[in-house]
Amino acid sequence: MLSRRALLAGLVGLAGVAALPMIGMFLAANRSLAEAAAGRGRFFGSALTSSDLAADDAYSRVLLDQCDVLVPEWQLKWGALAKSIEAPADFAQVDAIVQTARSLGKKMRGHTLLWHEHMPQGLADLTQGADWDRYVVPHFNQLLDRYADDFFHWDVVNEAIEPRDGQPGFMRDTPFYRMLGPDYVAEAFRLAHNLAPNAKLYLNDYNICYADSWQNDRRAGVLRLLEKLVTAGVPVHGFGIQGHLDTRFSFNDRVFADFLDAVTDMGLELAITELDVREADDPGGLTIAARQQRAADEVSKVLSIALDYKALSGVTTWGLADKRSWLRSARDLPDNQGLPYDDLLSATPMRAALADLFSRSPTRG
Ligand code: XIL
Repeated sequence: MLSRRALLAGLVGLAGVAALPMIGMFLAANRSLAEAAAGRGRFFGSALTSSDLAADDAYSRVLLDQCDVLVPEWQLKWGALAKSIEAPADFAQVDAIVQTARSLGKKMRGHTLLWHEHMPQGLADLTQGADWDRYVVPHFNQLLDRYADDFFHWDVVNEAIEPRDGQPGFMRDTPFYRMLGPDYVAEAFRLAHNLAPNAKLYLNDYNICYADSWQNDRRAGVLRLLEKLVTAGVPVHGFGIQGHLDTRFSFNDRVFADFLDAVTDMGLELAITELDVREADDPGGLTIAARQQRAADEVSKVLSIALDYKALSGVTTWGLADKRSWLRSARDLPDNQGLPYDDLLSATPMRAALADLFSRSPTRG
């Protein structure tokens, strides 16, 4: 196959200066998503697993071509590191991803230090303040010591808000919440900052983007928590908007922009994390092409607003090709169409939409 450089030299040789607009179009169409994002001072990346990289196949090549940021999809989660709360952590799979990322000069987002899902056995039963010192502090120590400068972002706390749990401030009722009360979030960020002072520390949450009224309380909970942290001088640097979009929900530019204004007015940065589109409807008579277009349109609605904010540091998808999507599970559509590449690793309309959205967005200072 001709390299981009050889093809470019050929084009210039053939038509001289007259070929310049064509060359521009060629380059734009062939730029990776990471290059498109970097052109605006942003990053683009995807979640991946250690086996994605170990396979060294067509999928891993697309991942590494398109992304300048990698996010371990589950290897860093506490329950992936240790089977039980007393068992030693096994870092082999994270090490494999970190080594590849280091050797290729890729940056990494760390996901995640605290999450109420995917926990080691025994953690769900803990309720005492002393359990924080006994288990949570060592968990932070070993992870952040081992990978001191490998992760430029950390999702320190994932999914801290759940209005249905009935707690003040719409806080989610988790073991960490039971150990220290709502202050566990501030404690987690302080601890992370002491151990990884160069990393940007994020709160990350989902069901934030849509205007459906039940998401109002979710947004209110996030804003109240961020405000509390910022006012107390806690080292929180950004909010990660999990971009698990969903064709069932309704989007409203103003509602979303108001939320982004409120976050950025606090001096925080934003990231779109975990981007994908869940086709929750029965796709009925829609062709695959129409479904892919629907997913691209969903992404455009949300990102055309978000990318207007210079505070938006970048975008990461939750997998890059549909065949590797977590949405391809029993509870969702077995052939969900919701990522920038399809089952055969061809670019979908979402890939073109992302490139276009990046190129039309303002440059981040
Ligand atoms: C999911 C992964 O994709 C699965 O492989 C894993 O088993 C469970 O977690 N929100 C999050 C992510 O913050 O960590 C979740 O990832 C998807 C929902």
